[in-house]
Amino acid sequence: MASIGKDITEAVRFLNEGEVIGIPTETVYGLAGNALNTEAAAKIFEVKNRPTFDPLIIHTSGIERFKVYVSEIPDNAYALAEKFMPGPLTLLLPRKDNIPDLVTSGLERVAIRIPQHPLTLELLRNLDFPLAAPSANPFGYISPTSAAHVNNQLGNKIPYILDGGECTVGIESTIIGFEENEVIVYRKGGLPIEEIEAVVGRVRINEHSSSNPLAPGMLKSHYAPKKQLILLERGQGKISRDPNKTGFLGFMDYHEDIPLKNQLVLSAEGNFREAARNLFAYMRQLDATDVEVIYTELLPEKDLGRAINDRIRRATVKE
Ligand code: TXA
Ligand code: MG
Repeated sequence: MASIGKDITEAVRFLNEGEVIGIPTETVYGLAGNALNTEAAAKIFEVKNRPTFDPLIIHTSGIERFKVYVSEIPDNAYALAEKFMPGPLTLLLPRKDNIPDLVTSGLERVAIRIPQHPLTLELLRNLDFPLAAPSANPFGYISPTSAAHVNNQLGNKIPYILDGGECTVGIESTIIGFEENEVIVYRKGGLPIEEIEAVVGRVRINEHSSSNPLAPGMLKSHYAPKKQLILLERGQGKISRDPNKTGFLGFMDYHEDIPLKNQLVLSAEGNFREAARNLFAYMRQLDATDVEVIYTELLPEKDLGRAINDRIRRATVKE
């Protein structure tokens, strides 16, 4: 298993050697390596078992640092960067060729993010290169929101996990791109669309992978637990399985037909932030019980509810 600690010097040493390590961010834990080193990037794909046509986000500690890697920052992008970075926002910007093709999967744009986590910001300030970091989960599985989650799944493949506690946001960053005068959301995430629209006006939401087949974060089935997750209408769904072999992941309320020990509720108060923070950890918790299927439900389609619902839809099958 990986060693887990808060030692930035140790983390810097591994990264300078071209190793990949687990790092905390406010959204989810990342599997990080030197974004300018093709071998380190290749290691990330290998450890995650991720196809190389799925590009990586690069992480820096500030806007000045990422300017070096992009050829242009549209005004809207700059306005969003100034307001929301560091934070759960990723910008797709035209790249310069100082980023290896492997990192961007040969695309014209590079994805850039400034994570808001004190340990990782300090780590980034101590490096001469940006970090390429996808979520630190095996490809297709739920993203990790604690060092233990990373260790359980990838601990035998990496030397170190920088432990920054539990992620405060809990779902991946919102990914935004710019075309002509339009702002496009490619992945709903930890920064609600409403907050983005308050800065740049109406955005277009690129819902499905058909128009963007190179972003598996947008594949229909993704972020999935191993057990079958089945979607119910909120508050009125009847279950068709043996309740004793059934789990339930609810938004605010428990399901009356299922034993309480098989249930988790994302936020009894209906708080979207709390729900986002709990989402992936609760999916994992239920996945680890001996229930056969897990029923779940959608949240109201607003604020962070939209990003949470996006993850739930991709993780579920309809019954
Ligand atoms: O919150 C986050 O964004 C986390 C933390 C670790 O920073 N990272 C994360 O990375 O979620 P990942 O690789 O699991 O998801 C990134 C998504 C993928 O769907 C990828 O296809 C898309 O971003 N992406 C990355 N670079 C891209 C590019 N140049 N053009 C289009 N899509 C890109
Ligand atoms: Mg991911």
